Amino acid sequence: MLRFIVALCLLAVSWAQDCEVANIQVMQNFNKTRYTGTWYAVGKKDPEGLFLLDNIVANFEIKEDGSMTATARGRVIIFNHWEVCADMFATFEETPDPAKFRMKYWGASAMLQTGDDDHWVIATDYDNYAIQYSCRRRNEWDGTCEDSYSFIFSRHITGLRPEDQAMVVHKKREICLLGKYRQVSHTLGKCEALTPIDSINGGEFAGL
Ligand SMILES: *[C@@H]1O[C@H](CO)[C@@H](O)[C@H](O)[C@H]1NC(C)=O
Repeated sequence: MLRFIVALCLLAVSWAQDCEVANIQVMQNFNKTRYTGTWYAVGKKDPEGLFLLDNIVANFEIKEDGSMTATARGRVIIFNHWEVCADMFATFEETPDPAKFRMKYWGASAMLQTGDDDHWVIATDYDNYAIQYSCRRRNEWDGTCEDSYSFIFSRHITGLRPEDQAMVVHKKREICLLGKYRQVSHTLGKCEALTPIDSINGGEFAGL
């Protein structure tokens, strides 16, 4: 029995070490220029709280001063029942690791979230897939992530190519999020058909 408990403890310790945020491997020699352009979120692992639901498209750019910025649009439900398309903006601050950024983000509307998150590129081939990861809060006792989110991005609105799926599954396992993702649907024209959030900013929400 004691041996069994010791084995369980060792298992727990090794699991915790593998899943420590500090040990997560990110993309080697990340080239942000090649990362620019349009990415469709095809899978996501949600954080706690409000988050983009589906029809999520991100656009990364490099500004003249060399810094990276992004815009993103996606469907979101606010106040429990209002379905809107959220336009989000982000700027990225570089860190000593070229694949690890600090992202400052805000919504086009004050109803949307504002914040500051890590933005790590775990792996990408630049032309087909990218895996993004963000840990918002770490467990102090073992360094694992308590509140994370992650996007699986594809250059193709139709999803990942079959030949990229094994790599993506492998990386999901490495960042300890295998089985935690949901597919992100892209209903063509869905966001365009909805009321843009700016136009419902004033009067209609006054009574809520
Ligand atoms: C990054 O990619 C761009 C575009 O392919 C290329 O011109 C540039 O040399 C690359 N930078 C590095 C540091 O490899």
